[in-house]
Amino acid sequence: MTETTLRVNAARLMSDVRRLGAIGADPGGGMTRLAFTADDVAGRAYVTRLMEDAGLTVEVDAAGNLIGRREGRNGDAPALVLGSHIDTVIQGGAYDGAYGVLAGIEVARTLAEEGIALDHPLAVVAFCNEEGARGTMGMWGSHAFAGVLPPGAAHQVDEHGVTIADLLRSVGGDADLLDGAAWTPGSIAAYFELHVEQGGVLESLDVPIGVVESIIGRVNVSVTVEGVAGHAGTTPMEQRVDALVAAARLIEAVRSIAAEERLVLRATAGTITVDPGMWNVIPGRVRLGVEFRDASTVNMDLATDRLVGIARRVEQDSGVRVTVEAGARTEPVGCEPELQELIAKAAAEHGYLSHHLPSGAGHDAQIVARIAPIGMIFVPSAGGVSHAPTEYTAPHHLAQGADVLLSAVLKKDKIS
Ligand code: GLV
Ligand code: MN
Ligand code: MN
Repeated sequence: MTETTLRVNAARLMSDVRRLGAIGADPGGGMTRLAFTADDVAGRAYVTRLMEDAGLTVEVDAAGNLIGRREGRNGDAPALVLGSHIDTVIQGGAYDGAYGVLAGIEVARTLAEEGIALDHPLAVVAFCNEEGARGTMGMWGSHAFAGVLPPGAAHQVDEHGVTIADLLRSVGGDADLLDGAAWTPGSIAAYFELHVEQGGVLESLDVPIGVVESIIGRVNVSVTVEGVAGHAGTTPMEQRVDALVAAARLIEAVRSIAAEERLVLRATAGTITVDPGMWNVIPGRVRLGVEFRDASTVNMDLATDRLVGIARRVEQDSGVRVTVEAGARTEPVGCEPELQELIAKAAAEHGYLSHHLPSGAGHDAQIVARIAPIGMIFVPSAGGVSHAPTEYTAPHHLAQGADVLLSAVLKKDKIS
């Protein structure tokens, strides 16, 4: 069998997707396998077994990344790394992230079965906490892997006041040794991430393979609105400084910064907390979690500045105090042209159509790009839906994506 016809075992891959998808499945549909929870730990145990069965040597690095490795024939060669994540959002689906990790393992298994030894070392990585569980920093593990964690990152706390350092213990990490999780620039020949598209472009074109050109950046912005809490029955309407009413204007403004003003591609107010949060109390304080996404860093900053300007107007109009604080951000990145070409060729050799497109979702690849050339492969998402229980990708598309990943790895192994 030549590299161009070699395919993965589609039935085995599907069985893995189903089994991992059962860990953390919500009775009402969808799944919640937030990082650092018991379900995450159970999912990681399942993936560890699969990696071992594929003949990979498994380790957990200090940041909680689960890494299965196999040596290459050339001991000095940089590694080929296949990665994604197995944690999910709340009420998410079984494909976002998990598919890329399981397909990476399937590639390793197929190579072992076929007796194919790569020149390069091979590593399959399940990055820890890509989704940012309970308000923690997303893409946590890939930041550590690329050696770009912000200072003091392990001391950040989640919504329950627990530090990441503490959370890390539940998955076998160690906050005191985080530097050791960093791979050096030059140690990776190529990083490939296979992922469901999470949008509807491929489906609408009826094309099974997406060659990702770039990944858009995102900035998280925390907005706090301080009003005056008071009795909801006795305080006349004209005397109120209602933080939630002011926040409602800001939520609408966030939407329009992308929708009408078109300063950025996407703008979302995704979280809200209201204090004290009772029906009979005028809201005294509201916190909003906002994110802006764009292919340009400049636009991400412009959107944040625009929100600050609108906040000043809301302050003047309604007497509240508003603070707008830009927090975690991931920069937009381009995928390596050589790897894009190689992925497109791999698809063509299998007889699968492919289409170049940008990614509107963030991915670990974006962070790994700081130290390695990255290539991303997408497969269609039914209805373009993701981060929701109805997320679905057809089995034949899952198999086709994994075939392309396998061929791309074989091609890259031959080139350098
Ligand atoms: C990743 O899951 C994202 O939110 O883009
Ligand atoms: Mn996701
Ligand atoms: Mn993902």
